[in-house]
Amino acid sequence: MNDAAKPDIFYPSEEVLNQANVNEYEEMYKYSVENREQFWAEQAETLNWFKKWDTVLDESNAPFYKWFDGGQINIVHNAVDRHLENANRNKMAIIWESEHGEVRNFSYNGLNREVCKFANVLRSMGVEKGDIVTIYMPQIPELVFAMLACAKIGAIHSVVYGGFSTEALASRIDDAHSRVLVTADGGWRRGKQIDLKSIANAAMERSPSIEVCICVKNNGLDVEMEPTRDFWLHDLFALPIASSKCETVPTDAEDPLFILYTSGTTGKPKGMLHTHGGYSVYTSTTHRMAFDIKPQDRWWCAADPGWITGHSYIVYGPLINGATIMLYEGAPNYPYPNRWWQIIENYGINILYTSPTAIRGLMRFGDRWPKKHDLSSLRLLGSVGEPINPEAWRWYHNVIGQDKCPIIDTWWQTETGGFMVCPLPITPLKPGSATKPFFGNELAVVDDDGEEVEVNEEGKLIIKNPWPGMARTIFKDDARYAELYWSQREDGSWRYLAGDSAKIDDDGYIWVIGRMDEVLKVSGYRLGTAEIESALVSHPKVSEAAAVGLPHELKGNAIHTYVILIDGVEPSKELMLELKTHVGNEMGKIATPEAVEFVEALPKTRSGKIMRRVLKARALGQDEGDLSTLEE
Ligand code: WT7
Repeated sequence: MNDAAKPDIFYPSEEVLNQANVNEYEEMYKYSVENREQFWAEQAETLNWFKKWDTVLDESNAPFYKWFDGGQINIVHNAVDRHLENANRNKMAIIWESEHGEVRNFSYNGLNREVCKFANVLRSMGVEKGDIVTIYMPQIPELVFAMLACAKIGAIHSVVYGGFSTEALASRIDDAHSRVLVTADGGWRRGKQIDLKSIANAAMERSPSIEVCICVKNNGLDVEMEPTRDFWLHDLFALPIASSKCETVPTDAEDPLFILYTSGTTGKPKGMLHTHGGYSVYTSTTHRMAFDIKPQDRWWCAADPGWITGHSYIVYGPLINGATIMLYEGAPNYPYPNRWWQIIENYGINILYTSPTAIRGLMRFGDRWPKKHDLSSLRLLGSVGEPINPEAWRWYHNVIGQDKCPIIDTWWQTETGGFMVCPLPITPLKPGSATKPFFGNELAVVDDDGEEVEVNEEGKLIIKNPWPGMARTIFKDDARYAELYWSQREDGSWRYLAGDSAKIDDDGYIWVIGRMDEVLKVSGYRLGTAEIESALVSHPKVSEAAAVGLPHELKGNAIHTYVILIDGVEPSKELMLELKTHVGNEMGKIATPEAVEFVEALPKTRSGKIMRRVLKARALGQDEGDLSTLEE
């Protein structure tokens, strides 16, 4: 890199340095990778265990690693119960505000009451340890209660993002064989009501496994209830079964806590499975260290609990650390583009953690909106989901962070459970780089043969070690998990393949460039081209379809699709719009294609695989690269 191209470096202020939870990186990093098990055992000691573990890390069946095996714990015992025994009992756990101005607060004591009642209700519906409950909800406190209630009784939750639609929900219910679905009448978005229950009804029709549907009344929509299947939560809460006392069940450290579906290279989403023990240790440690969590902090992760960011850093990590969490249901710019800044001022938020897309989206309305508000309570800012472009970084840093808040750019994945690469508040920052590995982790960039590339050279990002927060498997598909993510070296060691391309610079800073597979990041949301394609093909007039992601200034990726119609159907503007709506209805609004182009043929390999790379190059007017495998 020549000097002109060198990024600026931002150093932390005295104030940040003085209050850091971790005030030194290099030595502690060295210790953590040389004594990995010891390091993680020390972190695990900060949690409450029903029974201590026998082994910290069991590698005997790699890449199916076990952490803290033999130990007994329950994440809810740490996220809720233990706070009831100390001053946190009356501390605010959740502050919730909805788009239309409703506010509800819950102390840790109140949180416990709601979780206990919910857990008792689930039990009364026959939910037992190991059962999978699907949760499809807007961003309301009951979503958090439902997740914790499952965990408390040892059931497994599968949260499906509330922005997904019929087919996305149905296929996830089906894969999990859920008997119970928790949903709500509706949600709010940009002044409009989202009719969740009717989507849930349509999905339940497609997925016969559901026997019980518990529905939360959120916005009072008139919804269709099926009398023998559907129950209002408030009716159930009024019954004696919904007692506010419920014992937390001890679970084995390796017992499943949740599955969360994420997109990959095939049309079938992967249910990534996470466990009670390692995940508790990993989310709380990363959250505490990377975000310098203090007892008095008000923490706002402005993601949706329905994605891994919300699971790990709205719900579990912050609650284990006893923080006060902010939850907002609605659009960032409703009714005006100052909504978020107003929330920060109103509630005195100290740390804001969000995505580059959200930052770019709000930046476009100009400085005058944040400048109307006192943002001085902010101490740290965070970024996640995609690489942050330097322009957005600077705006976030200067205007929102008033030049004093370090930006914690965290690289991780649904699969990793928690931060893998991120700065600490004390780390000198380079805009656009997630900086250095978190403790215990060793990363590298390799070429196609698995050899490590030179400094500043691009290649595949890999992780060379297991970590407690790692997904244990793909639900019901161990073979696919091992094959997709892991490879064994000649010396017997294992490597985790992240699916991202990256570079490592002269200072050891990691620069993530983007996905190398058929995964798109649209406004930070992870979608698979295959899922979009199968939604298109499910339309009766479509014969074949291909989806690619093209760069988009605001969204990161925009979805462009190519469609071959069935014989005899003529392309038209109406059909184009119909197909866009169809994908939105099947998958969810976020998956609505930016463009639908009707074509006669698609570039394919001789074995019949669509060459999306060629479509992408053509759309961007770039060199199409090696075409030797293209069929005639
Ligand atoms: C993919 C994982 C992890 C929570 C949200 C996303 C991209 C994530 C960053 C970052 C550059 C990032 C990667 C990764 N990504 N964070 N800080 N810088 N890229 O989880 O939905 O499983 O997506 O998001 O491409 O592989 P996910």
